[in-house]
Amino acid sequence: MKILGLSAWFHDSSACLLVDGEIVAYAEEERFNREKHTPEYPQAAVEWVLENAGLTLDDVDEVVFYVDPWAYLITGAKAFLSAFPYSLSFLGKEASTRSPFYRLKRMFGLKRELCRRHGAKGDFNAVALRHYRTHQGSTFYASGFEDSAILTIDFAGDGFAEVIAHGRGLDIEDKLVHRIPHGFALVYTTVTHLLGFRWDDEYKVMGMAAYGEPRFREEINKLFAFDPDTGDFRLNLEYFNFHKYGRNNLFSDKIFELFGPSPEPGSDLTQREYDLAASLQAATADYGLAMAGLVKRLTGSDNLCVAGGVTQNCLMNQAICESGLFDNVFLQPLAGDHGCTLGAALYQYHRVHKRPRRYKMNHLFLGPAYLEESHAAADRHGLKARAVDDWHGEVAQAIADGLIVGFFDGCMEAGPRALGSRSILADPRRADMKDILNSRVKHREHFRPFAPSVLETEIETVFEPLPACRSLEYMIVTLTVRPEWREKVPAITHDDGTARAQAVGRAHAPNFYRIIEAFFERTGVPLVINTSFNDNEPIVCTPDNAIDCFKRTRIDLLVLDGRLYYREDNADAVNEKPEAG
Ligand SMILES: [Fe+2]
Repeated sequence: MKILGLSAWFHDSSACLLVDGEIVAYAEEERFNREKHTPEYPQAAVEWVLENAGLTLDDVDEVVFYVDPWAYLITGAKAFLSAFPYSLSFLGKEASTRSPFYRLKRMFGLKRELCRRHGAKGDFNAVALRHYRTHQGSTFYASGFEDSAILTIDFAGDGFAEVIAHGRGLDIEDKLVHRIPHGFALVYTTVTHLLGFRWDDEYKVMGMAAYGEPRFREEINKLFAFDPDTGDFRLNLEYFNFHKYGRNNLFSDKIFELFGPSPEPGSDLTQREYDLAASLQAATADYGLAMAGLVKRLTGSDNLCVAGGVTQNCLMNQAICESGLFDNVFLQPLAGDHGCTLGAALYQYHRVHKRPRRYKMNHLFLGPAYLEESHAAADRHGLKARAVDDWHGEVAQAIADGLIVGFFDGCMEAGPRALGSRSILADPRRADMKDILNSRVKHREHFRPFAPSVLETEIETVFEPLPACRSLEYMIVTLTVRPEWREKVPAITHDDGTARAQAVGRAHAPNFYRIIEAFFERTGVPLVINTSFNDNEPIVCTPDNAIDCFKRTRIDLLVLDGRLYYREDNADAVNEKPEAG
């Protein structure tokens, strides 16, 4: 049975192909159309996942969409009526391609749309699932757990913000639901906007938190009431406007009485903003822990699977893993809506069609590879490869010498984190490497940490163990850097002593593994900085994207599928490398 999971018209559009219970291909449209978090229909992603499997759309049995249009319509209509007449502003405020009407038209006409876009006859079923089901499916059916509690903490979807459930075998039984707008995500997003950030900037606030004191905890607690015994959660709606006006007007002026005014656009962040971020982070970790406790009581399971936008908060995830509530915690790395297409396909296959489980997520290298094209692309751009005997060793030495390496290798990884296929690598021992990376390539806010990739065999040498976590390969959880290592690897140790580390195994990332191994042999340090291969754009997808980024920035060495291209005008950059920290 072949199932295509599909998301479109909201954000983070993607496509995922499941064949006989195995995920065989997955891609996000933003990598192809180069628009971050794109809401566009994933034309290129769908074409690639089908082509990669040698299929046409008519060969697929089912296309499963990740939002139920009826639930979306009913939820929207209820919200409209309950907030009337304020809700009249819903009409016409959103850009046309983001308006509810546009989405509903597309979703209700899904099959027609698919046939038109892909020249198909329509020999397939087109169905839609409740949004939260696709998050549940993404984590439970990918975890490998036969029995597990399931916690989804999301923003809105098509009606349910947060759901606690119990998964057993093929079945998922819901235990508790928080309906929108009553969910913690609205608190998080509201404070994010209050700090002057935008949608999808929540992770930046997490990075800021280490530089502040949580002195606004009491004020944040006034935004909602949560009873961890009963599970009741209510937002204090006098501080919010989302339920009246939608995404463009999240909070009321009353919120300024608690936190003061938002910073002026373009102004420098002050200690107040860092303190507010720290307060939000503390509240998030506490909320996650309280929910985890409730999950444990409602299910009694020793295992936990999580997904949903809020569960991208790595510090909260660390707190849950450390809580001792669960023996095994699977953190779906595609926790945001990226993962809903994977979840839609898995849910449909297992829960709806009752097909047995065989898939267990053990890597995310599910995207396109360009093994032949990459060298031709380099030739086309006039790049000259340097002949070397041991290219892994040469790359490791370049990193140890202070060079910034653009590393493009094999199948592209899924999700928001580069995991060693489309990565920028650098030396974690240099205290100023963060500033160098930012000034030469990344141009990010100074408070955002860079993450390390570490040999899986050495992870507990450098980091405190996190034995319950089953998702150490994906940068979805922070680990605490051992005190004796913080001085040795200052470029990846955040101010709170944590790092969003990735455990790298030989089996799924052999070239990346060998480079870190060679770096370890040379330096005694079993990790490198690994940040996404991009400069304020979607992560590079094709060799042309990588070469373009290489030329635009000051990456010193480009590695394209095993061939090394040094920047020719870079002699001074190499020489001006900083001293080891
Ligand atoms: Fe979602």
